This record gives sequence, structure tokens and C-alpha cells, in this order.
Amino acid sequence: MIAIARYLAAAAATLAAGLAVAQQPAPPAFAPSNLSPAGVRSLAANCAACHGTNGKPAAGSTLAGLAGKPRNELLTAMSQFKLGTKPATVMHQLSKGYSDAELAALADYFSKQSR
Ligand code: HEC
Repeated sequence: MIAIARYLAAAAATLAAGLAVAQQPAPPAFAPSNLSPAGVRSLAANCAACHGTNGKPAAGSTLAGLAGKPRNELLTAMSQFKLGTKPATVMHQLSKGYSDAELAALADYFSKQSR
């Protein structure tokens, strides 16, 4: 008898947990941007593997530095990559992962880094 009661309680708990999961709303396509200074630094860290820490490429790198370039130049390049109007090998894909506000914040961030 006790075993059956335990089984029923466990089954009820499992069902309740399943319903709770089923009722959760679908996640939004893009999480809201974190455009605080720390949030933008985190976004900029995604660029470091190729463009160097804070946009300063490693010695001998053939990739363009981003540090200290004019904000508009950076933003124009990234927007054109995103739109597909600027030829690219990787940036056309990468730039699509950022909202326009995030691209503007990245352009602002890198333009303020010393070369
Ligand atoms: C996997 C390597 C890689 C990563 C990561 C990367 N880039 Fe690039 N980036 C490139 C390459 C390669 C180019 C040259 C264009 C091309 O072939 O895609 C480029 C070009 C650019 C240019 C144009 C520079 C110029 O003067 O011509 C900008 C601006 C830029 N990247 C910004 C960014 C930003 C901002 C990030 C981070 C959100 C980023 N990139 C992340 C590889 C990368």
C-alpha cells in the first residue's frame, strides 16, 4: 500500500514538472542586449581571437586592427558585412549575430581603444 502511494506521489510530481516545462513560453530569438560597459567588453572579447585583445592584432597577424579606427568606418564595414554588400570570408556571417545596436556599441568601443 505504501509502495503504491509512493509511486502515485512520484508520478504526480513528474506530471506536474512536465506541465511546468510545457507551459514555459518560447525563448526570444535574441536575448536583450547588455550594452553596459561590461556587457560591451564581453561582446568585444568575441572579436579578440582574430582581431586581437581590444582590437590590437598579434604581431605578424594579417588581420585588420580595429583599435583606434574611426567609429563610422568600423560601423560602416560591419553594417555592410551584415547586409552582404561587402565581400567577406567570415565577417558576413559573424556580423549577423549582432543587433544593429550591438554593432554600434562595438564600433564605439573599438574606436576608443589605443592602437
Ligand atoms: C574568426 C575570425 C574573426 C572574428 C572572430 C572576427 N573577425 Fe572581423 N574580420 C575577420 C576577417 C577574416 C576579416 C576580413 C574580411 C573577411 O574576410 O571576412 C575581418 C574584417 C573585419 C572588419 C573590417 C576591417 C577593415 O578595416 O577592413 C571589421 C570592422 C571587423 N572585422 C570587425 C569585427 C568585430 C567587431 C568582431 C567581433 C564582433 C569581429 N570582427 C570578429 C575575421 C574575424
